[in-house]
Amino acid sequence: MSKDTLDLSRQLNDHYAAVGVGGDRELVARLRDAFREAGHDPDRLTLDVIAGIDQLHLGGRTASRSLATLGFVGPGERVLDVGCGTGGASRLLAAEYGATVTGVDITAAFVEVAAWLSASTGLAERTRFLCADAAVVPLADASFDVVWCQHALMNMPQVPRVLAEWQRLLRPGGKVLLHEVVTGDNPEPLALPVPWARSQTTSHLRSREQLERCLAMAGFVPETLRDVTEAALAWRQTRSDREGGAAVPPVKPSLPGPPLLFGDDFPRMGRNLRDNLAADKVRILEGVWRRSNR
Ligand SMILES: C[S@@+](CC[C@H](N)C(=O)[O-])C[C@H]1O[C@@H](n2cnc3c(N)ncnc32)[C@H](O)[C@@H]1O
Repeated sequence: MSKDTLDLSRQLNDHYAAVGVGGDRELVARLRDAFREAGHDPDRLTLDVIAGIDQLHLGGRTASRSLATLGFVGPGERVLDVGCGTGGASRLLAAEYGATVTGVDITAAFVEVAAWLSASTGLAERTRFLCADAAVVPLADASFDVVWCQHALMNMPQVPRVLAEWQRLLRPGGKVLLHEVVTGDNPEPLALPVPWARSQTTSHLRSREQLERCLAMAGFVPETLRDVTEAALAWRQTRSDREGGAAVPPVKPSLPGPPLLFGDDFPRMGRNLRDNLAADKVRILEGVWRRSNR
């Protein structure tokens, strides 16, 4: 592994595994305890029960279904979920669309959580997870029908290398389905921290035009591209209202949520993201591209 890749991996592992939140305890152990405390057997979970910790993008499962529908993901398709996090979209595509999914992520603790959650929800046979940098994926050429990527390119400094991997890994005519954060028209600095970065070090946002250019240069042909910022902002606003403190305390211990992955400052990250969206510092896109048939 090169020094650059090691540094990147360290930065992201520190950010996403919420170092310091649970002392020395591994993320899986902390999450298993949290499910037990909430009255759920950590080895027999459902997709509904884990939704608070496996959908690490704006819009949750609704946004993933929107992208899957836009890209016509179908039964039997082989999907590569790039920057899969804890594997929520991988499981959704397997459970609801009949796909077979390989998730790749650079954050080792997330890959471990993803494998456990798939086993616990009965989806281990149709989802598998691999810890790797998206710029160097140790998988065979042309072994996927679809590359799926939600809210992950904004963490990646080397997008052209990542897109070259997508070209290699996709079969001719395969699809790229993207749900991404890009810069808006407001050039003021981002309010930080946000869920993907505590400082500029791990934030690598590009404009819509830059992203489109990178995809075109890598040989991908656009089919559909939509700006879904308004829906994302409305979703984030509702979440921030809830995270701001419920008027009535919950009767039962609540289900594990993002603070277990991102740290106790997650509500602040969420409010900053809401404010960045509202001020047009960031926008959200969803789209479909196709690899040429050659
Ligand atoms: C905001 S999370 C989104 C996770 C998931 N796509 C989702 O929507 O639930 C971004 C993910 O991208 C991963 N990531 C960032 N850079 C990466 C890289 N170079 N290679 C692989 N994964 C990466 C992070 O570890 C993190 O899990």
